[in-house]
Amino acid sequence: MASERDVRARLRLAGQEHLLRFWDELAPGPRAALLAQLAELDPVALREHCQRAAAACARPPGPCPELAARLRPLPPERVGSMSHGDPEARQRWEEEGLRQIALNKVAVLLLAGGQGTRLGVDYPKGMYRVGLPSQKTLYQLQAERIRRVQQLAGERHGVCCTVPWYVMTSEFTLGPTATFFREHDFFQLDPSNVVLFEQRMLPAVSFEGQAILERKDKVALAPDGNGGLYRALADHQVLEDMQHRGVDFVHVYCVDNILVRLADPVFLGFCVLQGADCGAKVVEKTDPQEPVGVVCQVDGVPQVVEYSEISPETASLRASDGSLLYNAGNICNHFFTRGFLQTVAKEFEPLLQPHVAVKKVPHVDEQGALVKPLKPNGIKMEKFVFDVFPFASNLVAFQVQREEEFSPLKNADGAASDSPSSARRALLAQHYRWAVRAGARFLDAQGTPLPAQPCLPPNEDPPAICEISPLVSYAGEGLDVYLRGRTLRSPLILDETRARELLLAQDP
Ligand code: UTP
Repeated sequence: MASERDVRARLRLAGQEHLLRFWDELAPGPRAALLAQLAELDPVALREHCQRAAAACARPPGPCPELAARLRPLPPERVGSMSHGDPEARQRWEEEGLRQIALNKVAVLLLAGGQGTRLGVDYPKGMYRVGLPSQKTLYQLQAERIRRVQQLAGERHGVCCTVPWYVMTSEFTLGPTATFFREHDFFQLDPSNVVLFEQRMLPAVSFEGQAILERKDKVALAPDGNGGLYRALADHQVLEDMQHRGVDFVHVYCVDNILVRLADPVFLGFCVLQGADCGAKVVEKTDPQEPVGVVCQVDGVPQVVEYSEISPETASLRASDGSLLYNAGNICNHFFTRGFLQTVAKEFEPLLQPHVAVKKVPHVDEQGALVKPLKPNGIKMEKFVFDVFPFASNLVAFQVQREEEFSPLKNADGAASDSPSSARRALLAQHYRWAVRAGARFLDAQGTPLPAQPCLPPNEDPPAICEISPLVSYAGEGLDVYLRGRTLRSPLILDETRARELLLAQDP
């Protein structure tokens, strides 16, 4: 183990000696823990990290004035669409996606290392229940969608196939996620096909460029952003594991989108048939001020430009059909070939520039008292998963309908959007639409008929509550056999048992 002297010398080199300022007060156990933590930090890298964080934070935020002239939308031949494309093309994409899944060439990769500070719970977001009638968590919904898509591809091609689930966690989420998966028997997935790995952590830094002490014996660390994925893939030989399993295509997604379609065959098939090495699902941005990044080109190079970097005038520009010119809203839902990930992990990762996130970082003050700041006091440096887009040889975008595929859980209830209520409503509205289109009608608890509205206004509660298990339907398919001509009482949970009962029951 490194000695106090060694560590002090390294910290001096890094300009961070203050991290030992409570040394004299510490008992042997905490001293050893602090030394172990500090010994892991490379002094040169630590110095650069702290300097870079303070310098980046000092730059004035806001739109980049010369960007407008360099910005272009992606060329139309690189953009597919779920709703605007012709139905035959859509079917071809789906067939191709299912074929690749049946060949065991597809994996899903969940980014689950975030701290979920805005939601404000002290456990991983994937364990959150948004209050569905079934009480399912986000992790469970995702696991069941994997099982269902395996089944759909397997049935189509008469095989038994596997979509391995890679889960990137962090120091905060690894332990509780692993325990949760074990306690829930991996949601009936084969545990050998669920691979948890951990991303790295970086010190949080004050505005003056000093690493922050969370306690007298602990440096405040934060995960290195969802773009920490690429280092984590290399750290844990994840790509070798994929190669070993024969995986060629990876669907990467965020934990918090309750509507996420894991290993979506249509998206996969589109990307594969386009020969893409990198793909981004996008939703149409209709409000110029909506705070989402936009997939577009800068100087001809594809990338995601953050909404804060685009001036309001540029964000409001319209195309000839009246839609926003820069309307490809990024939803952190990506396709990568394994080959591309391998090149990124080997060559490009060091070139990715970290972004500054200004956050509230709990810390100890000069006297050693714990402080929970009320306003942001620290900088976390994060890489983003989409930072690799400029390195792609053939990036494509695929536009999907927001109400079918995107409702993220970011904030606690009470917030105007992206809350547990809005996520729950989005899922239940979708399932209600699927059920009504499949021919179901609903009654309330007193037996009064409820309106049948196959199209619902956005952000409105559906007239009836109907939750459909992903094990019964992945994207609305196959519901007619259970629901055509049925009148059912709300609330309905259409799980596998109820579906079987409906099949067996006499026609009403
Ligand atoms: P967000 O940027 O929304 O962050 O993450 P968050 O941690 O979930 O929430 P806040 O900002 O603290 O409230 C988008 C996705 O990226 C993952 C998250 O788990 C989520 O799936 N992520 C984020 C990581 O995997 N690692 C990180 O270091 C950060």
